[in-house]
Amino acid sequence: MTPAATQTPAPPAAAPDLYAVMGHPVAHSRSPAIHRRFAELTGQHIAYDACLLPLDGFAQGVRDFIARGGRGCNVTVPFKHEAAQIATQRSARVALAGAANTLMFMAGGGIYADNTDGLGLVADITRNAGVALAGRDVLLVGAGGAAAGVLGPLLQAGVRRLTVANRTLTKAQALVQAHADLAKLLKVELLAQTPQALESDFDVIINATASSLAGAAVPVPARVLRPGSLAYDMMYGPAAHGFLHWAQQHGARPRDGLGMLVEQAAESFALWRGVRPPAAQVLAELQAQLQAEARAASRTASPAEAQAQAPAQAPGAGAKA
Ligand SMILES: NC(=O)c1ccc[n+]([C@@H]2O[C@H](COP(=O)([O-])OP(=O)(O)OC[C@H]3O[C@@H](n4cnc5c(N)ncnc54)[C@H](OP(=O)(O)O)[C@@H]3O)[C@@H](O)[C@H]2O)c1
Repeated sequence: MTPAATQTPAPPAAAPDLYAVMGHPVAHSRSPAIHRRFAELTGQHIAYDACLLPLDGFAQGVRDFIARGGRGCNVTVPFKHEAAQIATQRSARVALAGAANTLMFMAGGGIYADNTDGLGLVADITRNAGVALAGRDVLLVGAGGAAAGVLGPLLQAGVRRLTVANRTLTKAQALVQAHADLAKLLKVELLAQTPQALESDFDVIINATASSLAGAAVPVPARVLRPGSLAYDMMYGPAAHGFLHWAQQHGARPRDGLGMLVEQAAESFALWRGVRPPAAQVLAELQAQLQAEARAASRTASPAEAQAQAPAQAPGAGAKA
């Protein structure tokens, strides 16, 4: 008998568990790179892709993904509300926000929905930026899906007073109404305002609007800032620069939403895999990569374009330093 005849073929490598981010648009998403890096660093055997779904095709897209063996997905604009609706089980956070950014597909066919955006925001502010939220006066600008997702976790972080300011006041009032019981339980003063009616300044200002995408002006008056306030934009990259430069010019400490993105991804990953990835390390790597991309872009841009592309970040802001 030859040696070759005694050899048994190696078993086929197990297929990776499938995950994805679903959105429209979605090509710009950094989530695949973040989750693939988490998997590499924690030794998890997963595949994670970006999935562009038609605007009227979210539920079908999720069903198709489950049929292909999908284990879970992240959900981005504009499907977060629909994600909460198609779930068969919802976390308390999803029940409050009416929106989900994380789905987990269960063995019996059920779909569990969670919203990790608020946990990501709070972790980035308190852990990465080193700014305490407990006892602070916080302004949340915007009342769309992103604002809805973070309101509960901000209340739970122990803020003293939380003001929701939105161009369309009725939307801010509806959010405040939906969270009134939680605010009362936690003894937090929760208010709705229009941006023009804001008279005092705040410890922390969070921009959860899409105003910069519309090319519009900063959505709040400068009197909301005081020297040393934290001015946080949920966006990152060039879309955040207008708000962050404006805040810096008024003495506030600027921070973009990249850390929130990585921290919310870490929460989703931990839910799916039962393993907590090293979010701070991945955030530092992503920051370095974005800075390199911005430098490369500014080498080919005019001086005015280069100024617009320069990232604004708080000096010494935790992992972003
Ligand atoms: N870093 C992260 O991990 C993360 C996570 C989630 C979301 N985000 C970002 O957060 C942003 C908001 O997302 P969303 O899902 O909440 O969007 P959305 O549901 O469409 O809500 C948009 C919000 O922006 C306001 N707005 C839009 N244009 C405005 C303008 N010209 N002036 C003043 N206010 C304006 C809207 O006010 P009206 O109600 O008056 O229309 C509304 O409050 C997005 O850019 C998204 O990328 C980041």
